[in-house]
Amino acid sequence: MLLSYAFVLQVSSQDFNVSAGDLKSFKQNGQVLGIASSTGFYQVEVISPSIIHVRADQQKLEENFSYAIVGKAQKSSYTLVDSNSEIVITTDSLKTVISKKPLRISFYTIAGELINRDEPAFGITWTEHEVTNYKKIFDGERFIGLGEKTGPLDRRGNGYTNWNSDTPGYALDADPIYSSIPFYIGIHDSLCYGIFLDNSSKTHFNFGASNTRFSSFTAEVGELDYYFIYHSKVEDIIESYTFLTGRTPLPSKWSMGFQQCRWSYYPESEVMDLARTFREKEIPLDVIYLDIHFMDSYKIFTWNSDRFPDPARMVSGLRKMGIRTTLIVDPGIKVEAGYPAYESGLKQSIFLKYPDNTNYAGSVWPGLCHFPDFTNPASRKWWGDQFSAYTSVGVEGFWNDMNEPATWGQRFPSLVKFDLDGNGGSTLEGRNVYGMQMARATYEGAKLKMSGHRPFVLTRAGYAGLQRYTAIWTGDNVASDDHMLLGVRLVNSLGVSGVGNAGMDIGGFVGNASSELFARWISIGAFTPFFRSHKSINMKASEPWSYGEETEAIAKYYIRLRYKLMPYLYSTFSENALNGMPVARTLAIEHPFEAKVYDGAFQNQFMFGDALMVAPLSSTAMSAKVFLPHGEWFDFYSDQKFPGNKEIVVDAPLYRLPVFVKAGSIIPMQSVVQSAMEAPADTLMLHIYYGNEKNEFTYYEDDGETFDYEKGNSLTRSIIFDPLAKELIMKECEGSYASIFKYVKVIFHGFENASFILDGTVRSLLTTSYHPVFPDDIYRQELYYANQDVINAVYFVIPNGRGEMKISWK
Ligand code: GLC
Repeated sequence: MLLSYAFVLQVSSQDFNVSAGDLKSFKQNGQVLGIASSTGFYQVEVISPSIIHVRADQQKLEENFSYAIVGKAQKSSYTLVDSNSEIVITTDSLKTVISKKPLRISFYTIAGELINRDEPAFGITWTEHEVTNYKKIFDGERFIGLGEKTGPLDRRGNGYTNWNSDTPGYALDADPIYSSIPFYIGIHDSLCYGIFLDNSSKTHFNFGASNTRFSSFTAEVGELDYYFIYHSKVEDIIESYTFLTGRTPLPSKWSMGFQQCRWSYYPESEVMDLARTFREKEIPLDVIYLDIHFMDSYKIFTWNSDRFPDPARMVSGLRKMGIRTTLIVDPGIKVEAGYPAYESGLKQSIFLKYPDNTNYAGSVWPGLCHFPDFTNPASRKWWGDQFSAYTSVGVEGFWNDMNEPATWGQRFPSLVKFDLDGNGGSTLEGRNVYGMQMARATYEGAKLKMSGHRPFVLTRAGYAGLQRYTAIWTGDNVASDDHMLLGVRLVNSLGVSGVGNAGMDIGGFVGNASSELFARWISIGAFTPFFRSHKSINMKASEPWSYGEETEAIAKYYIRLRYKLMPYLYSTFSENALNGMPVARTLAIEHPFEAKVYDGAFQNQFMFGDALMVAPLSSTAMSAKVFLPHGEWFDFYSDQKFPGNKEIVVDAPLYRLPVFVKAGSIIPMQSVVQSAMEAPADTLMLHIYYGNEKNEFTYYEDDGETFDYEKGNSLTRSIIFDPLAKELIMKECEGSYASIFKYVKVIFHGFENASFILDGTVRSLLTTSYHPVFPDDIYRQELYYANQDVINAVYFVIPNGRGEMKISWK
């Protein structure tokens, strides 16, 4: 009995698991190698010297379709050596070894170090309907990225699923939540690599959870399709990943300012009062959001005419105060005879359908709804066309919500058909790309109607590549310290995964924050790429002044600081548009092999751009243990200098979020403005922090809101700090845009007793008791809580010419 039971088990396991088998034949066609094995079909393609594309299926491989990929294979030279046991493909940057019996794939550096390999026994295996690639897990191997995933920075020991889900008030370890980005970076020994599994079905990642043998990735439907990326630096892996999946076009400057939201501000008078209060209190603000109550019965593309009788009047009133309007846009179109969007959607047949071709209907805010099939080009166009209803009254921001898609009951039927741009499929492949394609339709549609202005799109759900169209926020978080810190990790992980413009609901969406929590949260939020306060219905109001005087002063201080940093931030977003480097950067990007970076005590630390390191902490801790990576660091507030590669403890009362400046940094700042597009004072403040290493900053300026920069109407200028040559060089400006700054005030930090030479003459320096964050005296007086450290800084002011300027020192 026992024996025969064992026998049955063995047979079953053979039936249920089909592994890659032995290589039977292969064919080389340009940069593509087609392979047949005893059990399946494979393709290995050289996309660039550092990117290899691997596909595997049990059926013949068809032409590839992907919503994520926009980077095409680049002409790359490589060699192929075929022997009895293996095929070796060598590019300038890595070696791909395909062993033949059985078929397994390994990746090596040119020097022969093993970067990544298939788990020798399992490799690629089909288990019933799903396909998994098992990879050898290395001792001490760490894993970062995978987009919006809860949990620690280092994902080792955990497993995750990608299935876009509406998860209000999600638990700290909930998985999945709203969006899916099946891309991670593995780090071991002194090597790092990226893997992007391009499959929009439900996918699973295992980084050594419940096993000690492998890491793995699984697709429940379709082929195994992944990109392997190797570079010696994490930032270059991100650059290659965003070469593949695209980058965020430069957002408007106003979308980098502070944004105020709640569910919901209405009627018009309340919105205008809100705007006036910001202006009266001189708390900068760029955007006000209208949540679902602005509509008539939650019907998209309508206005509630009692609450908002004259939307154009309101939007332009706000605009005159320097405030833009962003509206919520949900995908569900109410089933209601006579409602124009419903009628025209029906007529043009743009909705998702059941297999019997009746429109799928599910309930959301408006009641029973149909849902546009955003994976159909005709539906995307239809959707885009509807946006005149909003753009015609001057709305410039579009907040795409509920696009997992969310329906009450949370059981979106599997059998619903998705067009998938003509490829056809069901919810199984369509769900994870739905939100991204909605954001695409919104972005493309609004852009057409905004006469050359940049639309701002925000989404809740998405898939790899979403960054091409939209910013993202981390959904319905909770007002707690742990959620605030989780939010930091989510934003940083999105940054590793190609999404540079991400943020969280400041203050927590669900539940009421204490004054302390709001104060801490908004100070951290000032250093997140997307900076918005939002609160659920029936909760305590969540404006900067809703938590008492002291919290208001702290909020005001950090929001103003954000605006002072605007030239730095705008330049950083421009870098993101060029090479995909995120705005908020986990320390693991620059220091992947430094164990301390992953330590629970330090894992939330991040760089805000290239220069500023932020050490988030809870609202109950008044001092922080901070890890300073190697190099040297300045306390942002006091200029106190610290050697790196060290843990320090710093005071961190609520008004003083620990922020440090990396030695050698170049930080352009400006005077406070009330909205990002308001002209600041005519002097750019260029802060230079002395360091032993050469550094370069690319300063960028343009009009902040149109696409004219695409025609060269921009200004780019390299600023180089070179301590060996003892020189600061501001290179000649490139591009035709004329800077808004007439002067540059160069402020030197940590240059001990140097004398400075400009145009061959020693310049006399002005010395000031100067505080880097409170340079405007009027404001300093207001800050009774303000930091007492005042430093001596030296500076001089020079005209902001377009030609090269060189400052040297002795
Ligand atoms: C969802 C969104 C939230 C919004 C609410 C009402 O819960 O995530 O931000 O306020 O819907 O529209």
